[in-house]
Amino acid sequence: MTSTDSSILTILAALMVVSLTQASAAKVTCTMNAISGRQVGGTCSVFGGQVTSFIGTGTGSFPLPGTDITYTIDANGRSMLFECASQSDILTVDSSVYSGQTINNCEPPLIEFRGCSNAAVINTKFTDITRSNAQPDNCEVSQFGPCIAVVGSVSQTEDWTFSSNETTFTTTIVSSLQPSAVSRLGGAIAVLKKDSVGAVQAVVKGTTFTTTSCDLGGAIHTAGVSLTAMDTTFTTNSAVDGGSIHFTGAADAQFVVQRCTFTTQKATANGGSIAVYGGNVTITDSDFSEGRATQGACVWLNQCASYTKDQIVNNKWTDCSTQFTTLCCPANGNVWSSCGIAGPAECSEAVPPALCPA
Ligand SMILES: *[C@@H]1O[C@H](CO)[C@@H](O)[C@H](O)[C@H]1NC(C)=O
Ligand SMILES: *[C@@H]1O[C@H](CO)[C@@H](O)[C@H](O)[C@H]1NC(C)=O
Repeated sequence: MTSTDSSILTILAALMVVSLTQASAAKVTCTMNAISGRQVGGTCSVFGGQVTSFIGTGTGSFPLPGTDITYTIDANGRSMLFECASQSDILTVDSSVYSGQTINNCEPPLIEFRGCSNAAVINTKFTDITRSNAQPDNCEVSQFGPCIAVVGSVSQTEDWTFSSNETTFTTTIVSSLQPSAVSRLGGAIAVLKKDSVGAVQAVVKGTTFTTTSCDLGGAIHTAGVSLTAMDTTFTTNSAVDGGSIHFTGAADAQFVVQRCTFTTQKATANGGSIAVYGGNVTITDSDFSEGRATQGACVWLNQCASYTKDQIVNNKWTDCSTQFTTLCCPANGNVWSSCGIAGPAECSEAVPPALCPA
């Protein structure tokens, strides 16, 4: 073999590695804007491939070149559905702007991810997004709030993640809450494990939710997902259940709140700031004030098992509820100027603070 032959072989081997790497880990970053009733416009950069530009007309589905990701513009011309076929695809919506959109009660949310194991929304702004009560031709009401839905699929056999980092949601609402009819999920973000086999970790970091509302989870709804909310601010959010966060999951779903601020929160039923159904709850270094709800003015836990005393640490609870329950007894660095947490009678008896069990 000549040295030329061997260098050709080396190049061929390198090319094979490159193409294999690309096929197994497509990396796509999209900037997608939908402003004041205008259609969706934007570009997706395919790492190692072409830049694809979209101006939405409301029809069609586009496989992004060099990836397993399919992008569909829904009929309203403002909604985008991303479907990922490969678990190793990395899909990021970065530096996008959505504002002044009203969708009817049946249209899909502005962004939906299906089967995307590494999806993230970063440095993005949602402002004045409304899901109205309009239901033309008796169409089927959407199960989601107006902004983001993340839905697991059977193709996800490995563990997967979704993150919302450095993003702001301002006035993203349903135009009226529906206590008994179809419950729509998450005024800003809904993450559902749904058909995925792998476990799901959702992270919300450095994000701001101001005046968001929905039936279940004024800002965030999760089902079967571990959720970490950190360094995040929740202000004047409301819901039927879970004024800011509505968390549902089995015992292995971890729910962690770190360094968050909840101010002026309201639920007509349970959990002015947070309603928890199942899972394992840790709340540290956070600030709750002015929570209102029928049960659990700031936090409602529906199962005693979700809670251990040493997982609620160093929080400040102001103007939550005047009635103290045993859930508010352990100090653990908490400043209980009102009682923040209520739960089922077996673990949440009314007790004056002076009589808290040791
Ligand atoms: C979002 O923040 C989390 C927590 O710091 C981090 O693990 C994740 O990589 C970030 N995602 C993106 C896309 O920057
Ligand atoms: C919650 O999870 C932590 C960490 O895995 C564990 O130490 C704790 O015992 C769990 N708490 C409950 C109430 O199951």
